[in-house]
Amino acid sequence: MFEYHFHTGGSDETKALAMKLAAQLRPGEVLAMSGDLASGKTTFTQGITQYFQIEEYALSPTFTYINEYHGKTQNIVHIDAYRLTSGSELVAMGLWDYYNSGAIIIIEWADIVADAIPEDAIGLSFKTASGNENGREIKIISPRDLSL
Ligand SMILES: Nc1ncnc2c1ncn2[C@@H]1O[C@H](COP(=O)(O)OP(=O)(O)OP(=O)(O)O)[C@@H](O)[C@H]1O
Ligand SMILES: [Mg+2]
Repeated sequence: MFEYHFHTGGSDETKALAMKLAAQLRPGEVLAMSGDLASGKTTFTQGITQYFQIEEYALSPTFTYINEYHGKTQNIVHIDAYRLTSGSELVAMGLWDYYNSGAIIIIEWADIVADAIPEDAIGLSFKTASGNENGREIKIISPRDLSL
């Protein structure tokens, strides 16, 4: 496993980091995000959709569970598992079709649906840095070298 640690000092820095990761991503890869409320998962997702020049703004899909964003070269599927209790609920919503679609799959609150996350997913964890309202610690764990 390859591990990368970052500190960002504001949402723009988090989006810039997300764009760097996006440049390394391959079709069909899964990003499994964990971290508290407001730790930056959706903000990071916005950096990825920005990289792929997706015009729809990535909002927290809290009321829909799954949002699809259509890019010219790459589609993104953005899942928020916050209000789910297990991966089987996502499977019932067509998760395998999404996995097989070639879209990059981004899952917030992936720990809740851990039973439906593929083993080769790229893991991202987000933490609010203590003593700094705009500071975030972001850890990326990948089965392949992402040269970040
Ligand atoms: N360094 C930073 N990186 C990301 N967001 C930051 C940072 N500093 C401040 N923020 C702010 O923190 C909030 C992060 O919210 P965001 O929706 O990305 O979190 P989230 O992890 O998706 O939360 P939720 O679990 O509720 O979906 C935003 O209001 C953003 O502007
Ligand atoms: Mg969110």
